[in-house]
Amino acid sequence: MTKVLVAFATRFGSTREIASAIAAELISEGMDATAAEATSALNPDDYDAFVIGSPLYGNKWMGAAGMFAAITSERINGKPVALFSIGTLSVGNEQAGQAEHDAFIGKLREVAPKLNVVSDALFTGYFDRANLPWYLRIIDRFAPTPQGDHRNWPAIHAWAKSVASKFNS
Ligand SMILES: Cc1cc2nc3c(=O)[nH]c(=O)nc-3n(C[C@H](O)[C@H](O)[C@H](O)COP(=O)(O)O)c2cc1C
Repeated sequence: MTKVLVAFATRFGSTREIASAIAAELISEGMDATAAEATSALNPDDYDAFVIGSPLYGNKWMGAAGMFAAITSERINGKPVALFSIGTLSVGNEQAGQAEHDAFIGKLREVAPKLNVVSDALFTGYFDRANLPWYLRIIDRFAPTPQGDHRNWPAIHAWAKSVASKFNS
């Protein structure tokens, strides 16, 4: 059975739920998948394939997920990896959100050229204005992000299913 690690970073929890949904879909496709927060305690040798994801904060992944992807790439000898970003910029402006995701994934692949990326995707996330630090609440007044849960569960499950077939091939 293919052992898959779904490693994620999160600040407020919405990405944890997405990582769990991805792991559940991979399990329903016959894989042995586990979702876990990206830390150095995880041993990449224990897995055959990886899904790594993070919310975007200020155009970038959280450090823990980016570091995990870069360090893991040195240890896994080309095992397949699927990457996902979560963000809310794409809720109001799909093109800008996609460009931000593409730019980050491009940079990650530059610093981690050994990553064998078989798929990458951007999904809309969960935006709660109450999570903004006070200084960003001031900026947010001028460029308001749509508040609420924008997670597209059918799209997340469909992507996870497509990733399972790539991991199997
Ligand atoms: C301070 C702050 C900065 C953010 N920056 C971005 C960003 O640059 N691009 C984007 O698409 N979404 C951005 N978001 C939206 C988050 O990516 C989104 O809320 C995500 O679902 C949070 O994931 P988490 O609950 O796992 O921490 C930002 C949210 C906050 C609160």
